[in-house]
Amino acid sequence: MSTSTGNADYRDSGLVFPEGFTFGSATASYQVEGAAAEDGRLPSIWDTFSKTPGKVWNGDTGDVACDHYHRWEADLDLMSGLGLGAYRFSIAWPRIMPTGTGPVNQAGLDFYSRLVDGLLERGIRPVATLYHWDLPQTLEDAGGWPVRATADAFERYAEVVGAALGDRIHTWTTLNEPWCSAYLGYGQGGHAPGRHEPAAALAAVHHLNLAHGRALQALRATSTGDPEYSVTLNFHVPRGRGDQAAEAIRRVDALANRAFTGPMLRGEYPADLLEDTASVTDWSFVKDGDLGAIHQPIDVLGVNYYSTVTVQMWDGVSPKQNNDGHKAADGGTAWPGSDGVVEFLEQPGPYTAMGWNIAPEGLEELLLSLRDQFPGQALMVTENGAAFDDVVAEDGSVPDPDRLDYLRRHFTAAHRAMAQGVDLRGYFVWSLLDNFEWGYGYSKRFGIVRVDFDSLERTVKDSGRWYSELARTGVLPD
Ligand code: NOJ
Repeated sequence: MSTSTGNADYRDSGLVFPEGFTFGSATASYQVEGAAAEDGRLPSIWDTFSKTPGKVWNGDTGDVACDHYHRWEADLDLMSGLGLGAYRFSIAWPRIMPTGTGPVNQAGLDFYSRLVDGLLERGIRPVATLYHWDLPQTLEDAGGWPVRATADAFERYAEVVGAALGDRIHTWTTLNEPWCSAYLGYGQGGHAPGRHEPAAALAAVHHLNLAHGRALQALRATSTGDPEYSVTLNFHVPRGRGDQAAEAIRRVDALANRAFTGPMLRGEYPADLLEDTASVTDWSFVKDGDLGAIHQPIDVLGVNYYSTVTVQMWDGVSPKQNNDGHKAADGGTAWPGSDGVVEFLEQPGPYTAMGWNIAPEGLEELLLSLRDQFPGQALMVTENGAAFDDVVAEDGSVPDPDRLDYLRRHFTAAHRAMAQGVDLRGYFVWSLLDNFEWGYGYSKRFGIVRVDFDSLERTVKDSGRWYSELARTGVLPD
């Protein structure tokens, strides 16, 4: 159903993906659903943040977004028409337990139950993420991810969702990009809840890790089907500049990558991470038993990849240390350590509309590196895609050659990694639909399907047609 019909012997036959390779697309609840105040949903930190003047481009919010909450059936038909094999969506915690810990809202569960049934009816695998950044505001009011109680609450939420949907979900994903939740949410402040507290950001890292491990246990205990279990991380692929380039790379790898893979996949925080951050926190929020709780088996590791980063070490305060938030959200930030700062420099182009550099070789490098670090660990690209300023043609079509080229080059890079032995099981294009791009509101379009945000009409872009052919045949089209 969800797989290519391609030739399994892809190593010898050019860009043919193996039989069983999953071609999907991804979205996230706050970015597409809308219906922010319907059926018992209460505000999340992104409702609050987007309604705070100056936080999101143009004052955009997720109140309506793509109205997927009401149009989900048509959206599933769209996916089915494209021949996609899997749909990666996220469940909105504030629909299921609107206050985070309080009573379960059956109407919220019913929505996702209908969605999952609708996917299965169409032969599309449901890949569900429990947390794609929409923390119930009540929990933030009680301290948010920097406090341990949020991980406790997440475990209960996972139990509820596991019991309701765990008979039908194909793949459970605990967290999406906890790096963003912790560092952008609590350190750099460009994401909700917009706090600027480096020590709190590191406490958030730990409580997100703990939430992941506890949720895996809860999902395993409650799911009656035979789902796979995963987490999605946004790995940084750093390039170094200056005479301390290797040190800058090591620090970023520790803070951005190994801060999560260490506890999740090895059961320990890297010693160099603890040293690098010693002036910020003593990590006393890590309690006995936590690392064992976090270190749970996963079936597949989700990899989100868009671009590389370039970093440089400064011994004192970097020239850009106090740079402005928006750029920093994309990597222009500087991170203080015990003896200097790592600064994220502007990347060499070409760029997407996000200002992110286009570097497909970074994906190949990342997949190979993960294979080497975690031998035997199956991988899945859970996000890859690009924003460009699309122009609608006179005939109503949306030619988007840049996005198409971006995708073709990244699929090619993934294929190259597979030919070198990487166990890559599938690929999800971000995104099915143009949607609410966080701090950028609706100004950045990642969809392979265009959404007209006035009429909410959907139009498959050229990249969507191209991807459809890939998904149907398993062969990379021209
Ligand atoms: C990562 C996030 O998971 C997703 O929500 C976001 O829209 C894309 N990257 C693009 O920035």
